[in-house]
Amino acid sequence: MRALLCLWLVAQVAQVALSSRVRTRRELGPGLYQHGVYDAGGSYCQRGDVCCHGRDDGCTVPYHDTLCYCDLFCNRTVSDCCPDFWEYCLGIPAPFPKAPGCARAGRNYPPGATHRENCNLTCGPGGQWQCEDRACLMDGELIDAVNRGNYGWRAANYSQFWGMTLEDGIRHRLGTFRPSPTVMNMNEMHMNMDSNEVLPRHFDAAAKWPGMIHEPLDQGNCAGSWAFSTAAVASDRISIHSMGHMSPALSPQNLLSCDTRNQRGCSGGRLDGAWWYLRRRGVVTDECYPFTSQQSQPAAPPCMMHSRSTGRGKRQATARCPNPQTHSNEIYQSTPAYRLSSSEKEIMKELLENGPVQAILEVHEDFFMYKSGIYRHTPVAEAKGPKHQRHGTHSVKITGWGEEQLPDGQTQKYWTAANSWGTAWGEGGHFRIARGVNECEVETFVVGVWGRVSMEDMPHK
Ligand SMILES: *[C@@H]1O[C@H](CO)[C@@H](O)[C@H](O)[C@H]1NC(C)=O
Ligand SMILES: *[C@@H]1O[C@H](CO)[C@@H](O)[C@H](O)[C@H]1NC(C)=O
Ligand SMILES: *[C@@H]1O[C@H](CO)[C@@H](O)[C@H](O)[C@H]1NC(C)=O
Repeated sequence: MRALLCLWLVAQVAQVALSSRVRTRRELGPGLYQHGVYDAGGSYCQRGDVCCHGRDDGCTVPYHDTLCYCDLFCNRTVSDCCPDFWEYCLGIPAPFPKAPGCARAGRNYPPGATHRENCNLTCGPGGQWQCEDRACLMDGELIDAVNRGNYGWRAANYSQFWGMTLEDGIRHRLGTFRPSPTVMNMNEMHMNMDSNEVLPRHFDAAAKWPGMIHEPLDQGNCAGSWAFSTAAVASDRISIHSMGHMSPALSPQNLLSCDTRNQRGCSGGRLDGAWWYLRRRGVVTDECYPFTSQQSQPAAPPCMMHSRSTGRGKRQATARCPNPQTHSNEIYQSTPAYRLSSSEKEIMKELLENGPVQAILEVHEDFFMYKSGIYRHTPVAEAKGPKHQRHGTHSVKITGWGEEQLPDGQTQKYWTAANSWGTAWGEGGHFRIARGVNECEVETFVVGVWGRVSMEDMPHK
């Protein structure tokens, strides 16, 4: 404290001593070149058309995050002149060697500076932009290309994806492992269908089962769609099969943290493993066990919920809710999940009779930009080279279907599905995708399930 006070006094005395010569901050300040702030190619005095004769401390123009001067007083060894002062105002070459910087969007950056533009750019030592050449998740050119093209859907720039690479998107926003060949070969369950059975042209599960179809979730930067889509489908199915008596929003976090055998939490997981867990162990509600793995943490949070058998296949929780405000730690289970055939009609019939289904989806760069309409994978990213062609496996909840008349008179059939990227993405968190053509493999692996609902779960008369 005393030391500080002394320093302050010294400073005051120095100020008084100097005030006779009026030394200003400007004189004391370091030259603009001493911190590597030297913009070789910029035009400053010229752009502002200012050259002041004599000293004029107001004769400045903005220079990066500071100011530079265009008056004669700046012509000294420690200079705060704008870099083009000598050439523009005095007509002589600058007395300092020009360090080559990099120019970008009308600005110059000193060598070694890094500059991020979307996901992508840094300045190198040689005055050349060394572009990292990565495929960005949001790409203005691609958004424009989709919106200009006649693809039947519109693209948008999502701020939550801005600055991420496509690689980041695939690594942190998806998270379903492709079903193994044995799982793929799981016996398909066939719906009893009359070959000429007529199904409605439009179907929306939320209209048929009001209050029982849960809103789209948000997995954040957690590659755990395996857990999110499973919890989403199971929540709806349990609500429907209990005729609305129970309508739990099940906890993806319970699966992420506790279903760890051969699963990798927010680094991806298998659907068959998730369904096994839901059947054998069961999960609590999202309110009881809220989502906390928002950031893709290297270490998964430990499991905070366990269950034990109470006989007759039912289980009960052995721990309190991780959320201390919630007391109900009821465990919800399902029956074994079943795979549907890839037939469009059979998937429709299953949806109509039993509720939403789970489907895998192969996600390409353009899907991240989806805003509205009927999605089909477009060739716009393909043209930008192999880095833009990467894709990854995701899983979603199909909730309905419909069809739309195109201007040329053709009918475009679609599925409606809930994604898990929040409700600000797509059509309120949902998307529509071409139906009957296995678009992005959406009809390849479709799963249904029954809630385990016993008589005692049902309303008593
Ligand atoms: C400005 O500085 C340069 C280099 O230090 C010197 O040659 C020149 O005479 C100066 N010009 C004026 C007008 O002071
Ligand atoms: C990223 O850099 C590459 C290579 O320079 C460029 O082709 C691409 O357009 C850049 N992406 C964005 C979104 O700026
Ligand atoms: C997209 O959004 C980001 C942040 O929200 C913004 O900085 C960027 O300029 C936008 N890009 C395009 C191409 O619209």
